[in-house]
Amino acid sequence: MKVEIISTVAELTEVVRGLKKSGRTIGVVPTMGALHEGHLSLARASREDNDDTIATIFLNPAQFSPQEDLSRYPRTLEKDIERLADEGVGYVFAPSNEEVYPNDFTTSVTPPAVARRLEGEFRPAHFGGVVTVVLKLLNMTCADVAYFGQKDYQQGTVIRQMVRDLNVPTEVRVCPIIRDQDGLALSSRNVFLSTEQRAVALSLNKTLLHVEAQIKAGQRDGFEVVTEMRQMLIDSGVERIDYAMIANPDSLEMADPIVLPAVALIAAYVGETRLLDNRVFTEG
Ligand code: PAJ
Repeated sequence: MKVEIISTVAELTEVVRGLKKSGRTIGVVPTMGALHEGHLSLARASREDNDDTIATIFLNPAQFSPQEDLSRYPRTLEKDIERLADEGVGYVFAPSNEEVYPNDFTTSVTPPAVARRLEGEFRPAHFGGVVTVVLKLLNMTCADVAYFGQKDYQQGTVIRQMVRDLNVPTEVRVCPIIRDQDGLALSSRNVFLSTEQRAVALSLNKTLLHVEAQIKAGQRDGFEVVTEMRQMLIDSGVERIDYAMIANPDSLEMADPIVLPAVALIAAYVGETRLLDNRVFTEG
């Protein structure tokens, strides 16, 4: 099947109307492009669950602060479209900034309280930009199911709550983190890492695996775990840690003592590159 590239909301509305009229189910995979296997795993999940899949590619300026280098973000639109076509995705929505945020655009969504923790402390405007664009994309695509990656754990939590709070008739599915063979979580930003930095970056996953081993061995002292996480990262050469935390998987409040299920989350800089990783621990 040939992929249909859609660049305007009007065209998208027409396509979606047609699909809905024929009773087809729609899965949406929102992305900012620079696609890798992590993104493609979401496209595959959507293809499996739904009659049609719409992947969206939009580098959303509203979720970047002026200090963050939006212009540095990798852009590979042609290749992205090719890869989605190879996965059998039927529709790619790749709008311009003006199409998503016309001149007279002034409304925005206030994210739920859970957005103020962790990422919210370091990127205060970030989740406001995310929930606003995601709600717009869900409205534009009328998707039955929307796919997100556990890689951005807090983002999944924030979007789930927004969808629940605002009665959005779309189901949110969060899919597992896809990693490289060496364990590094795939990210569009990994291209910025030098060979040496990549070795340092592996310490995020290694630290999370260490936490897992500790918890399996019966460790329940949250503060001790967090202290060890920080130490392991620093010892491996991580220059700056935004947070290293073990938390309740829903509220993202610090878990101390650790009660399962729990999630350990890390945001840290290797050189100029900000990396995220996390791991969920369940009973047994
Ligand atoms: P982006 O960073 O392009 O990621 C798009 C989706 O891919 C997100 O749901 C993200 O969690 C998922 N993803 C990224 N790396 C992954 C990996 N290694 N394994 C599994 N899934 C992975 O997240 C965004 O874009 C934006 O905030 C967006 C939701 C599109 C709103 O603008």
